[in-house]
Amino acid sequence: MLNDTPSALLPVYATFPLRAASGHGSWLVDEDGQEWLDAYGGHAVATCGHSHPDVVRAIADQAARLLFYSTAVPHAGRERLAEALIARAPAPLAKVFFCNSGAEANENLLGLARRKTGRQGVVTLRGGWHGRTVATLACTDGAKYEAGASRAGMPLSRKVPLNDIAALDAAIDDTIAAVLIEPVQGFNGARTCTPEFLQAARHLCTARGAKLLFDEVQCGTGRTGRFTAAEYFGVTPDALSLAKGLAAGLPIGAVLAADSLVDDIQLGDLGSTFGGGPVPCAAALANLEVMDREGLLENTRTVGGTLACKCAGLPAVKAVHGRGFLLGLELDRPAAGVQRALWERRILTGTSTDANTLRLLPPLSFSADEAAMLFEAIRVVLA
Ligand SMILES: Cc1ncc(COP(=O)(O)O)c(C=O)c1O
Repeated sequence: MLNDTPSALLPVYATFPLRAASGHGSWLVDEDGQEWLDAYGGHAVATCGHSHPDVVRAIADQAARLLFYSTAVPHAGRERLAEALIARAPAPLAKVFFCNSGAEANENLLGLARRKTGRQGVVTLRGGWHGRTVATLACTDGAKYEAGASRAGMPLSRKVPLNDIAALDAAIDDTIAAVLIEPVQGFNGARTCTPEFLQAARHLCTARGAKLLFDEVQCGTGRTGRFTAAEYFGVTPDALSLAKGLAAGLPIGAVLAADSLVDDIQLGDLGSTFGGGPVPCAAALANLEVMDREGLLENTRTVGGTLACKCAGLPAVKAVHGRGFLLGLELDRPAAGVQRALWERRILTGTSTDANTLRLLPPLSFSADEAAMLFEAIRVVLA
């Protein structure tokens, strides 16, 4: 079923069995004009649905006025987006740095923590996935990723099991600059930190002089039903990263940091030519406005919550992991076969690092009717 059309592209991605022509809301339209229900969201990117007219208009308007100028020239849209993010993030997160991707945002989180503490070590979680730059590969769980970091001479993070407070306690010593955690582990099938574990991480970091960093590249921007996972769990890190769904489809990354982490930042300490460009900032601002106006956080909580409950009642579902619209259905069989059976019904879902977990990350605008359609298909396929 995989799309094996020959092309000049490096064949590094397993692809879904369609060629995309357009999209609207929760639907992707293929080159034959057939509609596919998208419970994958372009990898958690289609926050307010595909090609939302407000986002498209904001992009077009901004592109017509000024396509790009770097941060050498102040721009109101960039400043407004930074303020809008801080208004939605828990205190004391107060300062924003824009870049272009999730890995780049995480790379900057790690750099800030190392700079501030003067230490090098990092603690991360088993099952964590943080990106493909050298520093983030070193923090990502998996022999292949770690080998990539080692080949580049990057020391690996210390990895502790999810929700193991004793192991975390043992891992944080005075060489550790940061503990980097995905509160909901996206690629790991939405395995979720307990609030107690996150509170312990907060406490241990503060007590031992390490920085607590949340990778919210996948679980942030409303996916848990709160704008940040930090808010959802009631635990505030020293900094967090956002990317993926923030600009609803344009590349963007953001670091949101507490003053205590960045109060001594000097001119030139961080930088990015394209980070904070006018067009992605306009897209992100429009996306945030749509999220507010259309009540997408509320929708994520209610529709996502109902979908999770219904799936948990299916005999073939051993557990439902995750929150809101970042859900992992742990099945009694390999998820790849279920994903393929759903393709035959023109429904897109994701798999995960756990072979038996099917991942659902639809747009936050996924309606109750669309969720019912998805559930019914999953029910029939599993039966
Ligand atoms: C939790 C998490 N962190 C970081 C990344 C890397 O983001 P990007 O692909 O934008 O570099 C991803 C991408 O899947 C992710 O899920």
